[in-house]
Amino acid sequence: MKVNSEVLPPGYDYKTQPNCTDLDHIPGTFGLPIIGHLPWVFSDLRGLSIKLREKYGPIAKLNIAGSKGVFVANPEVVKAVFLDPHRNFSNEKAFENTIGRFFSGGLLLIDFDEHKTQRRLFQTAFKAEPMRQYTLQINDIIAAHIPLWSEVDDFKFFPHVKQCLLTTSASIFIGVESKDEIEILNRNFVDMFDGMVGIIQKEIPGTKWAKAKRALRNLKQHYESLIPLRRETAVSKDFLSYLSKEKQPDGSFFSDQQIVDHINFLLMAAHDTTASSLTNIIMELAKNPQWQERLRKQSQALSKDCLDYDDLESLVDFDNVLLEAQRLHPSIPMTWRRSIRECEIEGYTIPPNTLIYMPLLYNYRDPTWWTDPERFDPDRFSPERAEHKRNNFAFTPFGGGAHKCIGLHFAGMQVKCFLHQFLLRYRFSVPDDYNPKLMMIPMPKPMDDLPLRLERI
Ligand code: HEM
Repeated sequence: MKVNSEVLPPGYDYKTQPNCTDLDHIPGTFGLPIIGHLPWVFSDLRGLSIKLREKYGPIAKLNIAGSKGVFVANPEVVKAVFLDPHRNFSNEKAFENTIGRFFSGGLLLIDFDEHKTQRRLFQTAFKAEPMRQYTLQINDIIAAHIPLWSEVDDFKFFPHVKQCLLTTSASIFIGVESKDEIEILNRNFVDMFDGMVGIIQKEIPGTKWAKAKRALRNLKQHYESLIPLRRETAVSKDFLSYLSKEKQPDGSFFSDQQIVDHINFLLMAAHDTTASSLTNIIMELAKNPQWQERLRKQSQALSKDCLDYDDLESLVDFDNVLLEAQRLHPSIPMTWRRSIRECEIEGYTIPPNTLIYMPLLYNYRDPTWWTDPERFDPDRFSPERAEHKRNNFAFTPFGGGAHKCIGLHFAGMQVKCFLHQFLLRYRFSVPDDYNPKLMMIPMPKPMDDLPLRLERI
């Protein structure tokens, strides 16, 4: 990939430029009229990636409901785009017409200097001392939730773990602990996610999209109503209190709008990704009982009900199971950016303002990098085998570069604290022939929400 680092003309603002769709020279087609490849992106992104790659090679046209761009399945391009030393790839413009319709102003959707400043403020919340405190909070919430699950008829794992993790995130990030308030947040999150993937993406009454937009407004109003209360608290126990009182480098406070946008994205990023990830982990551990037993033995060896912050680093097998579940069922199966200047990818000229779609999931099962890629085999991440080091950008579940997931360690902590308590309390299983339909978007999980048989230990 060649990036041209020339200085942009004075007064030129990439943010005011429309997407470039002048891509006749790129192989492939823009799919169906209006919706393009949208149905396949939603129903079978992996199948679509394989098909495009086989038919057209490493670069092809891709069109997601009118957002036309190029599709590139190549870890070297992922590397160049994530590391982006020439500041040639915009997140804000990339996501504007997709997740930007729900999460504009979130940290992932801000570019360059502004992003750097705001990310620095966020980092305070993820340092060792606050993380130590979160571990205690998270342990208590998990301990209050999971003992009740064996009493539930027809227990399905996903909605329960989602509720549990939303409770931890709401408590830590916005200081909300009341059951009723969490229930309202949960309902709105479910409606928003359900509608975001609607084929009709206009606010027409009765459509899922309209329901999702209404849920978004409810959530934002809720966060806004909390800001004056959090500004008054003397000690900032939650992230919203901290953000409401923190000054930016120019001495100004964040506006209410900025705070609401940040919280809206952060809460989604914090609980939905981890809920889906844990669902896939539990599904794999139910299907691979030898791995379930191996982790349980390690938890039992610690002889404690809950993990301490200092235990986390030693649980390497837990990390490897998380990574392997992410490899097979990535929370972020594809990401994208928009070019600012002209560049060259796979020998093709990519004009300025072109969307560059990177199907990360393609790389995660590419036999070039992985041995027996369809198999659940967490030991592939062990220091002896280290398959993920064959190419550092063939496996990027938490992204890379300036926008690398800020909650990476928080997610690992949540997953380990949860698994520890769950493995100590329950042996869990699925029928031998369990082979559910898997969905990928908006978050990967079994479509049936993972019915699970729980046996008390
Ligand atoms: C298994 C769980 C998770 C996965 C797989 C995951 C994955 C990712 C990925 C791939 C990105 C970068 C996307 C891109 O560059 O296009 C990202 C960004 C981000 N994640 Fe996560 N994430 C997880 C959990 C979390 C948690 C628990 C939090 C918060 C506590 C969080 C907060 C964020 C934020 C704020 C960003 C934007 C960072 C920036 O733009 O500077 N994530 N995540």
